[in-house]
Amino acid sequence: MLIAQISDVHVGGGRYRRELLHSAIAEINAAGPDLVVVAGDVTDDGYPDQFPEAKEELAAIACPQVVLVPGNHDARNVGYLHFEEQLGSRDSRLRFEAAGLEVALVAVDSSKPDIDEGEVGREHYPWIEEGFAGDADLRIFLCHHHLMPIPGTGRERNQVLDAGDVLSLLRQLEVDLVLSGHRHVPYVWPVAGMFLVHSGTVSTLRTRGFPHPAYNFIRVEDGRISVELRIPGGEGRSLGDYPRDWPPELSARHTDFFTTPIGELPLAND
Ligand SMILES: [Fe+2]
Ligand SMILES: [Fe+2]
Repeated sequence: MLIAQISDVHVGGGRYRRELLHSAIAEINAAGPDLVVVAGDVTDDGYPDQFPEAKEELAAIACPQVVLVPGNHDARNVGYLHFEEQLGSRDSRLRFEAAGLEVALVAVDSSKPDIDEGEVGREHYPWIEEGFAGDADLRIFLCHHHLMPIPGTGRERNQVLDAGDVLSLLRQLEVDLVLSGHRHVPYVWPVAGMFLVHSGTVSTLRTRGFPHPAYNFIRVEDGRISVELRIPGGEGRSLGDYPRDWPPELSARHTDFFTTPIGELPLAND
């Protein structure tokens, strides 16, 4: 199974370069992925004229499954309403088959109007749990903001406010891939049974520690997950080739006491 992950398009921004997006989409279409995720910040300011342009550009993606979430930039200036009008729901849950795998995907809007901080929010948790319930060969969670700090991005900021609780929840739900953007640096964190895969900015020169625009190809095959970053119109580079299944003592779901009711916590001297 091949997944293309792009984010941080920033249509309308001063350092947005349309030709980078065209190159990336042409390369993605040539690769023929089973799934394309667009992990937020499709516009620069959330203005009403930026969404139709973003929609038109992204319509060039040729893939049966294209899933989008908004980013903090899309939520500016009440852009979350324009996002819904032009691009569809801000949250989605999908089940589909790809390359012989039953895939469960939950995509959540982690943005809040006019602030750069992200939050998934407790009200989303049962909905997320339901989305991953039952049998699936591959579980994918998508949100714009990062759940773990990313190196090469300067001072840490804008992390998801409930990142700890979300990570704990996703681990319990046996999620395989967490796909995010936002920090404009491609990076992979293997964490407790999951791979947190971050894409760079696909079509801007707003780069940080990794000085090129970039997007990711993620391949899931033969019991392995490999991640390759691609520079639109340029080179590729491996972000790792990992075994899919973690030994239970490393995913360590049984040690996570935050998913049990608080009254059952075994507290010393209580
Ligand atoms: Fe961004
Ligand atoms: Fe962002």
